[in-house]
Amino acid sequence: MPPALIEPRTARLQLRQWRAQDRDAFAAMVADPEVMRYFPAPLTRTQSDAMADKCEALIAERGWGIWVVERLADQQFIGFVGLHVPQPDLPFSPCVEIAWRLAQHAWHQGFATEAARAALTVGFGTLQLAEIVAFTTKTNTPSQAVMQRLGMERDSASDFDHPALPAGHPLRPHVLYRLGAANFGAPPERQAYPVPL
Ligand SMILES: CC(C)(COP(=O)(O)OP(=O)(O)OC[C@H]1O[C@@H](n2cnc3c(N)ncnc32)[C@H](O)[C@@H]1OP(=O)(O)O)[C@@H](O)C(=O)NCCC(=O)NCCS
Repeated sequence: MPPALIEPRTARLQLRQWRAQDRDAFAAMVADPEVMRYFPAPLTRTQSDAMADKCEALIAERGWGIWVVERLADQQFIGFVGLHVPQPDLPFSPCVEIAWRLAQHAWHQGFATEAARAALTVGFGTLQLAEIVAFTTKTNTPSQAVMQRLGMERDSASDFDHPALPAGHPLRPHVLYRLGAANFGAPPERQAYPVPL
């Protein structure tokens, strides 16, 4: 029997399973060179459909995963945020990572942090995980700022070269942030922008 779908909601956002009608907005997002600035290349339509299919299949299988983020105010697709078990050849695997990607029009409004906090609540609450990690290329400061807003701590001793990128690739050096269940608290900004738990 398939597991019950976990689809967290926050004050402004619905995190949910993928639908066929998300594919166009997702393809447009991952074809945007600015959104993909810290990735090897923008995705083709074939690649973006394959990625959406994979996210949808993993949520169907587990009940949780990389969710679509829909803005409640207008039901618009604004990106994805969620939890994922990454490739086993990372030096700190096995682990559960938190990941995010938003369309440019949805940046600088606190949506990534708000959605990520809901995903962490699922991870530490429902899933009872002991730790959740996040990683990104060294120069991706906007993503590291989200990690820091969530109370994640950089583990400098675990800086690593991403095995999927060739030696010498400028995006290869990566940083790792960690958050333990005991440290998932209420960052100060939550008082101003409450997220129902
Ligand atoms: C990484 C990414 C999601 C960060 O987005 P972001 O908009 O900077 O982060 P948040 O959604 O948490 O928003 C925080 C900003 O919203 C502002 N903000 C405005 N209204 C807010 C509100 N109601 N609540 C909280 N913050 C608010 C904050 O002050 C902060 O401003 P700043 O960006 O000027 O510092 C985005 O840059 C992105 O999708 N990049 C491309 C993909 C990518 O690199 N993904 C990560 C790969 S590991």
